[in-house]
Amino acid sequence: MSSAPYIVGNWKMNGTRALLAEARAINRAAARYPGVQVALAPPFTLVQSLADEAQAIGVGGQDCHVQPKGAHTGDISAPMLADCGASFVIVGHSERRKDHGEDDALVKAKAEAAIEAGLGVIVCVGETLEERDAGQAEAVVSQQVDNSLPALEAIADLPAGKVSVAYEPVWAIGTGRVAEVADVVAMHKAIRTRIEAAYGEKAAGVRILYGGSVNAENAAALLAAEGVGGALVGGASLAAESFAAIIAAAGTEPVD
Ligand code: PGA
Repeated sequence: MSSAPYIVGNWKMNGTRALLAEARAINRAAARYPGVQVALAPPFTLVQSLADEAQAIGVGGQDCHVQPKGAHTGDISAPMLADCGASFVIVGHSERRKDHGEDDALVKAKAEAAIEAGLGVIVCVGETLEERDAGQAEAVVSQQVDNSLPALEAIADLPAGKVSVAYEPVWAIGTGRVAEVADVVAMHKAIRTRIEAAYGEKAAGVRILYGGSVNAENAAALLAAEGVGGALVGGASLAAESFAAIIAAAGTEPVD
């Protein structure tokens, strides 16, 4: 179902077990929209519970280490995520790039480690406000795509839909300032060109998601935009009501 809209909630460092009630409600909402692929990336502490309880959605991690195991205190590996029920992992989120100094080469290695462990992967890219104001947005993002995506050899045998790119302009994340639809369309087109250069015909199986202040009000316009294959949603994924509205905005018919 790689052409289905892919709506992914990123809970970031939010959520104790009390938030599992929201996840159950999100699961029920997702079950009503079989034409939408819905997923949640909770903190590591909730991955297993969520995977056990929410069968209609994919469950993923927000990061993984490049090694499968070893002396890396505090880190979690891709096989560990897979072992507790995760089916994908987000890598290269701008908060990790900034807070943990992650560069494109590390993000690429993490993406390849995830694939090696059988996980799908969402690779995040996006420019800062300074870079956009300097007219460098497309160049910056293109370079991130070129250098952060897993190598063609790593994805050659994967079914469509296992690799996604999330375009998340840093200035739109958690700010309430959403990118203009025309700018999103232009950037997704540029990203698609880079993916095609890297993957050739395999590029057709890669969805490009938009992320950055997606909410119940703006989701329909963003998700209907050319080249937008889904959304990576932060704040609005923490409550079932707003996240369900985004799932509904993906434009497929509900079942009752
Ligand atoms: P936001 O976060 O929806 O709260 O802006 C998006 C993200 O960082 O993935």
